[in-house]
Formats: sequence, structure tokens, C-alpha cells
Amino acid sequence: MHINGKTTLFGILGNPVEHSLSPIMHNAAFTHLGLNNVYVPMAPKDLGAALSGLKSIGFRGVSVTVPFKEEVIPYLDSIDATARAIGAVNTLTFTKLSDGSIAVQGTNTDWIGSNAALAQVTELHGASALVLGAGGAAKAVAFGLQKVGATVVIANRTKAKAVALGKELHCAALGLDEIDDVGAEILINTTTVGMAPNINHCPVAPHLLSQYKVVMDIVYAPLETKLLHEAKACGCAVIDGLDMLLFQGAEQFRIWTGHTAPMEVMRKALVTALG
Ligand code: ATR
Repeated sequence: MHINGKTTLFGILGNPVEHSLSPIMHNAAFTHLGLNNVYVPMAPKDLGAALSGLKSIGFRGVSVTVPFKEEVIPYLDSIDATARAIGAVNTLTFTKLSDGSIAVQGTNTDWIGSNAALAQVTELHGASALVLGAGGAAKAVAFGLQKVGATVVIANRTKAKAVALGKELHCAALGLDEIDDVGAEILINTTTVGMAPNINHCPVAPHLLSQYKVVMDIVYAPLETKLLHEAKACGCAVIDGLDMLLFQGAEQFRIWTGHTAPMEVMRKALVTALG
């Protein structure tokens, strides 16, 4: 990468952002395709001021992560219907209008990422899925599944949160201790259970895993979580947490550059970064 006077700017807004893998993934892709672009981490104190600054400086595309995915919405000039329905934006695109002003458009590629990751190994239309967790990630994953015609059940440690999300999405909701007989084909963990340093924790009792065809974990540190290790041993197809990150990033890359993302290059850069 050779930064010069013509380099186009991209980045990620989050706080904290120093552990984000997005700069590694996007810069590897820019370099591979010989694009004169750079992607930088940014942790603004004042989101509104930061967005004005990004517009003024000429940023072309920005990812948005925790805690700004909802907070960013009032600052946008437009938001697509899906991001509006999910209530969260993870991708901003800056466009110069004919009068010289800059418009900021918000979208959400998280649900596209989870669907694409799952679609590698299974048909989603008509499938049934159990989504563990009731936070922002669970909502995007569940929304994506419903959008392509899958049936979703939400289960969460704090059942009231699962019930609230279930009401929003018009789907069944359970406590995490009520999932023994759900009978879904796909299991997706969107909770933080199993994330380093708690690598021996598993959100589901291992003896329950053999009922699932596919198990996906959005935790990527470690890459093989206890959940995925146990699921593999039960013969399930497994999808690790890098895939959702990769596929949502690939969609951002396509939106911003018009190029198909070099997925293998991006994955290799992520795996190297994770050691
Ligand atoms: P995100 O927006 O990324 O999904 P979040 O809103 O912090 O993150 O959600 C974290 C999820 O992990 C929640 O569903 C949380 O369950 P609670 O709603 O009961 O807090 C879940 N979670 C975190 N630690 C957990 C644990 N030890 N056991 C079970 N679930 C846990």
C-alpha cells in the first residue's frame, strides 16, 4: 500500500476500536486489487462531529460498530429499508451530490453476512433456526433468516429480552434453559459465551448438539470455540465466527468499490492477525 495525495479514505467508527479486524481485512483487499484506498480505525468522542469531519475530509465509506450502530441513524441523509427495520446501521457510504454537498447513506450488511455464511453449507429457505442471544447481533441474524424464508426461534439467558425481540420479529422466544426440544436444523450462537478468555464455556449442553445439521458461532476468538469443537464431534457442519465478519465485509467492499471482494485474501489476513 502506497499512500499518496490521491488515496481514498475509508474506516471504522467504534469505541473501543483498537481490536477491530476490519482494517486488516479491508486493507488486505485494497492492496490485493491494487486500489489506492486506505481503511483506518476511529474512536470518536462526539459521533456527530466525527461525521461532519468525515464528510468534510472526503471519506468514501465507513463501517460502524459498537456502540454507534443505532446512535448513527439520526445523522444519516438516507437509510435503506432493511437497516431501518433492523434498527442498526453498520455501513456508511458518502456520495457527492450535484450541488457539491455530501450525502451519507446508511445500510446494514450484518444480515447479508450471516445469511451468506450459512448459505455456504445449507439451504435457508424453509429451514428452521435457533438463535442464541437477544442483542444487536441476534436481531440482524434472525432478521436475515426470516427475510429468506427461514423460521426462527430466539433463546436468551434473560428470557424477557428474548420475548421482547420475539415480539418485534414475530417469532417464538425461550429462555436459554428451555432449548432441549426445539428441533431446529440450524443453531447460531450470537452470545459472547465461549469467547476468550472463557474458552471452555459452551452456550449449549454438548449432548444437545447432534440434533442440528449446522452450527454457526459468531465468536471468532478462539476460531474454534468449544461450541464448534463439540458440534464437529457430533457431525454437524460448522461455520466459524470469521465467516460472518468476512461476508459482511465483502458486501461493504462491493458497495464501496464496485469490485467483488477477494475473500480468500481477506480470510488469510484475518487468520494471520488472529495468530
Ligand atoms: P450484541 O449487540 O453484540 O449482540 P449484547 O447486546 O451485549 O451484544 O448481547 C450479548 C448477548 O450475550 C446477550 O444475549 C447476553 O445475554 P443477556 O441478555 O442475558 O445478558 C448474552 N450473554 C452474555 N454473557 C452470557 C452468559 N454468560 N451466558 C449466557 N448468555 C450470555
